[in-house]
Amino acid sequence: MQLIDGKTTSLKIQSQIAEKVQQIQEQGYKTPHLAAVLVGSDGASQTYVNGKVKACERVGFKSTLIKLDETTSEEELLQTVSKLNQDVDIDGFIVQLPLPKHISEDKITDAIEPTKDVDGFHPTNVGKMVLGKPTFLSATPFGIVQLLAHYNIETSGKNCVIVGRSNIVGTPMSLLMSRNTQVGNCTVTLTHSRTKNLKEECLRADILIVALGKPEFITEDMVKDGAVVIDVGITRVPDETKKRGYALKGDVKFDEVAPKCSFITPVPGGVGPMTITSLLKNTLQAAEGKKV
Ligand code: GUN
Repeated sequence: MQLIDGKTTSLKIQSQIAEKVQQIQEQGYKTPHLAAVLVGSDGASQTYVNGKVKACERVGFKSTLIKLDETTSEEELLQTVSKLNQDVDIDGFIVQLPLPKHISEDKITDAIEPTKDVDGFHPTNVGKMVLGKPTFLSATPFGIVQLLAHYNIETSGKNCVIVGRSNIVGTPMSLLMSRNTQVGNCTVTLTHSRTKNLKEECLRADILIVALGKPEFITEDMVKDGAVVIDVGITRVPDETKKRGYALKGDVKFDEVAPKCSFITPVPGGVGPMTITSLLKNTLQAAEGKKV
């Protein structure tokens, strides 16, 4: 069993990004600038956004964090998006999800200028992804593709089973894994809450990608010997033995599944760090070629 180390891989890619930033600055191009909008005070969202801002500093990007109150109206948030769309110094921005219930995530996503949508969530960018055209790939699927490439994991002709059909992970992942590209060419099964015989479907997986947000859902009896297991789940589970009062759990029961795998991602330290790195890559792409 080989552990897929997302932390080390992402630091390597981030140092390449940092070098590239220096080069483009020396050549008279502008410093990439990412903005993040956080509405409310959800603990996990704060952690993620802080991680994104810190990563920007590490690679030499400019970053702007806009914190808005939980009671911010949809109209106010649309105005913030509109300002960011028009701000020529900002190359890309994200609005951290989930949003408070009174704000439509679809309306906000649709309002983001596609050329600045470094999350790759706008329908225009999703459409380009489906058609295999150059675009911003959304951070988690893009991070997983990069991990598979980094570890030279053969995907062509393999059975890839994905658990969870979210717009952010499962659905785009199913498309990326079936594309005719270096990481791709899989026969993909996208499973969800209505799937019959989920265990049998999972047992057919050469590559099992789990993104449903149910801690330790995938057990040893659901995984084939030698499978590659990618665990996207990261849930805070109350744990009084921890100083912060919770433990982070993936969707896979790691201790019993890992011995059966050829490769597996840990939680934390697997897919998570790569999502931030993917966002940085997208922001670099958004900024590239712009003169100061
Ligand atoms: N919430 C969970 N994942 C993401 C992400 O990739 N981008 C944004 N904006 N919000 C998220």
